[in-house]
Amino acid sequence: MKHLSIQGANWAFSDEGAGKALMLVHGFPLDRRLWSGVAADLKEFRVITVDLPGFGQSTLGKGFTIESLADGLATLVESPKLGPLTLAGLSMGGYIAEAFASKYESSLDRLVLVDTKAEADNPQQKQGRDKMIDMVRTGGSKAVADDMLGKMLSPETIRTSPQLVRELRNLMVAVPPKTIEIALAALRDRADYVSVLQRLKVPVMIIVGKDDVIAPPSLAETMQKAAAGSKLEVIPAAGHLAPLEQPNAVADALRRFMA
Ligand code: MLT
Repeated sequence: MKHLSIQGANWAFSDEGAGKALMLVHGFPLDRRLWSGVAADLKEFRVITVDLPGFGQSTLGKGFTIESLADGLATLVESPKLGPLTLAGLSMGGYIAEAFASKYESSLDRLVLVDTKAEADNPQQKQGRDKMIDMVRTGGSKAVADDMLGKMLSPETIRTSPQLVRELRNLMVAVPPKTIEIALAALRDRADYVSVLQRLKVPVMIIVGKDDVIAPPSLAETMQKAAAGSKLEVIPAAGHLAPLEQPNAVADALRRFMA
């Protein structure tokens, strides 16, 4: 595990292997272990997995927005001189990757958007974020984990992998309530990135779990239309967490895209 102080927070990340650089950014409310199976499969690349501030082994610092996290990643990319690299983000990690691409496209070789979308929250979704902020204030991380758990995985994963369901709940419960609260505000206040996708020049791949109900395949198709020439990979037997549910299928898609 490596550490770098960025914007007053201690960012933990792992940086393993040699070859083309691939940075993997987790979603909400998770940490870099979301990508463990994918990273283990991609032995031929230099794979960097990041704990965002307040998640996993990183400290929170003074808080964040989606844009400040993109700036933090840019600092991380510069410090060991990684770029241009392939950046892949899941859900919240995808929003951060979109913000990164908007500002730092020259640091990118390729962009991969997993179980995510490009549109900003609508008023109803913003209200949902505020309700969840109340939920974490009163019920803690457990309340948020129990509210989200059923929507994160495909019915098949829930049926066949009780161990994975337990591990996922543990991951979510481990995120401090303060981090969850700040992340929810960051998600609520994020910009719309549709125009970013429309103007990007780097190759883009979109990956979506066939059963994702949080960022469903219909939204992945919208992103594919926005990003001219982009590829779309639909992963069977996966919900919102395709890299956790089907790590080898996601690794194969990344391998083909980076070849
Ligand atoms: C995530 O998985 O990062 C979140 O579900 C994203 C969101 O709620 O928009």
